[in-house]
Amino acid sequence: MEDILILGIESSCDETAASVVKNGRVVLSNVISSQIDLHTVYGGVVPEIASRQHIARINQVITQALSEAGVTLDDITAVAVTYGPGLVGALLVGVAEAKAIAFATGKPLVGVHHIEGHISANYIENEQLEPPFACLVVSGGHTHLVRVADYGKYEILGRTRDDAAGEAFDKVARAIGLGYPGGPKIDRVSKEGNPDAITFPRAKVAESEYDFSFSGLKSAVLNYLNSCEMKGIPVVTEDVAASFQKAVVDVLVEHSMHAIDEYGFEKFAIAGGVASNSALRAAFEEACAKKGVKFYHPSPIFCTDNAAMIAVAGYYEYIAGTRSGYDLNAVPNLKLGER
Ligand code: KG4
Ligand code: ZN
Repeated sequence: MEDILILGIESSCDETAASVVKNGRVVLSNVISSQIDLHTVYGGVVPEIASRQHIARINQVITQALSEAGVTLDDITAVAVTYGPGLVGALLVGVAEAKAIAFATGKPLVGVHHIEGHISANYIENEQLEPPFACLVVSGGHTHLVRVADYGKYEILGRTRDDAAGEAFDKVARAIGLGYPGGPKIDRVSKEGNPDAITFPRAKVAESEYDFSFSGLKSAVLNYLNSCEMKGIPVVTEDVAASFQKAVVDVLVEHSMHAIDEYGFEKFAIAGGVASNSALRAAFEEACAKKGVKFYHPSPIFCTDNAAMIAVAGYYEYIAGTRSGYDLNAVPNLKLGER
């Protein structure tokens, strides 16, 4: 059988990325141009700056991805691109670029859902992983507990009602003076802190056992900081970070284990930027081992936004016959499982 090479393109937020993946599992190149330094001064991603940077960098990033993979556009089987969800102006840059390449080369175009990409990152280093399994997607924009019934077939079991897990990390990091992006910084300083120093709430959503809510936890951290200030009690940043992180991890693990029990999943995966959190990984490792459930997670570089995951998801969509037209548009609030 001839090799299938997918060129993946990702520009939904603040990473301009391109990758070439062979037969859905072998990453030949994975180029990521991060804009974090440009957004740090503003304390978060500025959409207008993100769009302009994507335009400035995308051609170079794609050229580099092709050259590192040792291929040319002629060798590519199809072009896969994130078309939602994400920032509309940012998404549009990748979508327009992918359409231009597909049109100029006559290669098929495949629009990919960003979350499907995050989930698919698990296929890269786990050759034996195949659906069905459950996947917890925790990123800056999303917190979804998903049943992966088959390639391209998803059922959302639970989701956040307010802030995404990564968003909570970023907001709390800002409040305790760690800056942006907060997740990796909280992860780092928590190692020096006591996770049981402060008891923060583990929020439950009354009507849905699998849904999440993180805004109450964020408020509890802010209230704690305020009360310390008013009482003149010094704040131990490491303890606040570690206690907050534990509250998030506890809820994510508890809901996920509940789903494993109810649905009888034998495999469990995590995905998205927050999936690179060391305490989260350790907690899932332990909880899954206790149940005899196989635990999967991508390497950190495939957890945060990248284009390899888009090429992998694009491969499975491609072999299933999915094709997008030249009218493919950016869909900022695209739902998982919709086309
Ligand atoms: O998947 P991602 O790169 O972008 C989105 O699709 O949102 O996720 C970025 C998020 C940010 O909120 C960042 O703070 C968080 O992932 N993150 C982490 C860690 N590394 C990144 N959160 C906790 N611990 C980490 N080590
Ligand atoms: Zn993402």
